[in-house]
Amino acid sequence: MKFFIDTANLAQIKEANDLGILDGVTTNPTLMAKEGIKGHDAITNHYKTICEMVDGPVSAEVLGIEFEDIIEEGKKLAAIHKNIVVKVPMIKDGIKAIKWFTDNGIRTNCTLVFSAGQAILAAKAGATFVSPFIGRIDDGSWDGVQLVEQIVNIYNTQGFMTEVLAASIRNPLHIVRCAEAGADVCTCPLSSILGLLKHPLTDLGLAQFLNDAKSMQ
Ligand code: E4P
Repeated sequence: MKFFIDTANLAQIKEANDLGILDGVTTNPTLMAKEGIKGHDAITNHYKTICEMVDGPVSAEVLGIEFEDIIEEGKKLAAIHKNIVVKVPMIKDGIKAIKWFTDNGIRTNCTLVFSAGQAILAAKAGATFVSPFIGRIDDGSWDGVQLVEQIVNIYNTQGFMTEVLAASIRNPLHIVRCAEAGADVCTCPLSSILGLLKHPLTDLGLAQFLNDAKSMQ
């Protein structure tokens, strides 16, 4: 399973990238706004900076919701850097646009996916990635990871090439369960990635080893 970081924060991207386990980045308008990125030039420069930091797919979301706007924006985003993947919402014009991007060699990430039916449509349109939103499904007391499992099964059965990118990850257990469910990619906040490191027995064991090591010197 590939690891993407789900942020537009450059310090966090650097910290995850320095670990050597980062395969890509996802952003969305909320994450970009959180970093105070405003205006066409600032947006373009920020994506360029991220692409130069991380050697892997960087999802940049379109802001338009009508076919022509999505195409115009997507073409400009894709031209910023070869790592850019155009992120398109799961709406009727979005599916049409994903098909257009597929036919024109531009990679896409179909976002805001909450059902297996939506995931089938994204795959039919040729999306490179499909993003089911695990945490937001859990927030409604459904099981987000079950949806990942269902999409993975459908794609395997049907031979769809679209990669299942588990998004809206809220904790380390989500990452583990998405790996079990067969997700191709998990996009996570830095805190969830670092949370995977933690175990009290590791801390206790290391403290003892360090203490015993003193008697060996
Ligand atoms: C990434 O592709 C999604 O936009 C993101 O994971 C959504 O996460 P959230 O539900 O925590 O906002």
